[in-house]
Amino acid sequence: MHVLITAGPTREPLDPVRFLTNRSSGKMGYAMAHAFVHAGHSVLLISGPTDLEVPEQVDFIPVETAADMHAAVANGIGRMDIAVFAAAVADYTPACVAAQKIKKSGATLTLELIRTPDILGAARENFGFTGTLVGFAAETEQLEANARDKLLRKQCDLIIANDVSKPALGFDSDHNEVLLVYPEYNEALPATSKHALAHRLAAAILELHAKLKT
Ligand code: CTP
Repeated sequence: MHVLITAGPTREPLDPVRFLTNRSSGKMGYAMAHAFVHAGHSVLLISGPTDLEVPEQVDFIPVETAADMHAAVANGIGRMDIAVFAAAVADYTPACVAAQKIKKSGATLTLELIRTPDILGAARENFGFTGTLVGFAAETEQLEANARDKLLRKQCDLIIANDVSKPALGFDSDHNEVLLVYPEYNEALPATSKHALAHRLAAAILELHAKLKT
């Protein structure tokens, strides 16, 4: 099977020395890339900047911005059977990038931000992807309802939802606890290491893919 995975944060430049980003470590996406390779599949990992080592035998495309990630996914997704969007993509990017370092002046500074492309949302509609589509949802409230809304809006086959209001789980942590939200039902997985969870998730996604193809 050919599996595309997006991972990590994106970095949206403000000027030559500054950028907007988020706390995503990339650990969950990288652990899933490892798990799919371990299960004998071919993986294309498209990742924003992280401190992680790229797992062996993974094809790797490093990107910086949401626009870069969008272009790399648009280019690669056509060859894929499964696509897993684990990246924490910036929802907004500076409306313009200053060519020179922004100098301090007044007491306040207002930044104008514009929406980035929704890469997962483009998978079906713009990229014409017909394989198994998996998204992530990081929520602080109404986990199931928000994840189910995302499942329908982005035409996914599965949303892996986690409650990021729980300390020590999710973003930047080695552990995670997720709720699998399928069109027909949910399945809660207990808290465990991202490594163990990645194997569990890869198996669930491969099982789902087999089911959808029959
Ligand atoms: N995603 C993406 N491109 C974006 C934004 C998000 O591919 N520009 C993907 C993420 O990789 C993830 C899912 O979409 O799989 C998350 O959906 P999103 O609607 O962004 O959810 P949240 O970030 O949880 O935000 P919100 O609360 O704004 O819905």
